[in-house]
Amino acid sequence: MKLATTVAEVRAWRSSAGADVGLVPTMGYLHAGHLSLVERARAENGGVAASLFVNPTQFGPAEDLERYPRDLARDRTLLEAARCDLLFVPSAAEMYPPGFETGVEVGEVAQPLEGARRPGHFRGVATVVLKLLAIVQPTRAYFGEKDAQQLAVVRRMARDLNLPVEIVGCPTRREADGLAMSSRNAYLAPADRAAAPVLFRALSRARELWRGGERDAEALRRAMHDVLQTQPRARVDYVSVADVDTFAELSRPTGPALASLAVFFGATRLIDSVRLEA
Ligand code: PAJ
Repeated sequence: MKLATTVAEVRAWRSSAGADVGLVPTMGYLHAGHLSLVERARAENGGVAASLFVNPTQFGPAEDLERYPRDLARDRTLLEAARCDLLFVPSAAEMYPPGFETGVEVGEVAQPLEGARRPGHFRGVATVVLKLLAIVQPTRAYFGEKDAQQLAVVRRMARDLNLPVEIVGCPTRREADGLAMSSRNAYLAPADRAAAPVLFRALSRARELWRGGERDAEALRRAMHDVLQTQPRARVDYVSVADVDTFAELSRPTGPALASLAVFFGATRLIDSVRLEA
């Protein structure tokens, strides 16, 4: 696997990489969820690139940029084993040189839920993803459904700006107890780690009710709240049953819907979601 730290090195690799390349953008501290994206990219493309960049512009001033977990040596070993061909690890100065001032203006899809709680977050995500797509010029780029709104924002951008790339969504990988894999799980104190599967239990309860025919979105939200309230360590940020495309809250869904939630354990904020199929 080649390690590139500059845009010029990536371009040199790309010109010899062949027709189809898959890109997996990450912020590192890799887990099996990230690696499932690399596996999918490996299966579908001649060349596979991953990027590792803790993008400062998508973190709010009170968020965890400084303490975000980092372990480049371990990530390199994992990506080698997953047969990744190129790892791009730019510095902040390589991505945002002095004078940098252009950004992607994200639309309605980026306003509710994560967008409302994390002002500027999706602008930062969309801008860095657009830069990574422009630098690597992949045929396909791989994103997790775990960050459902992020995936929708990226899809919207690719469509609206006619980006010559296929955006591929990949299913959420979970721990044996249901907790969605996340680099941020590393922050959890043991008692919070033990409590955190309550997120997936709440989502599973909503899905069970949905499969049983419940179509009152407020009843589904209440049911998720009830499950979360059984866990005193969990502090609910939001619980949502929303449109799968616009993320607007629904009252009586007729088609598919997205049940999602954000919950704090101490200072650590976890998100998760499941799709309620029509
Ligand atoms: P990061 O949180 O490192 O996630 C990188 C990719 O892995 C994202 O597409 C995310 O949705 C996916 N992912 C995370 N956990 C997953 C899981 N349990 N199962 C499947 N996929 C999972 O998301 C980002 O980084 C950044 O916002 C980024 C897109 C790289 C832009 O900076």
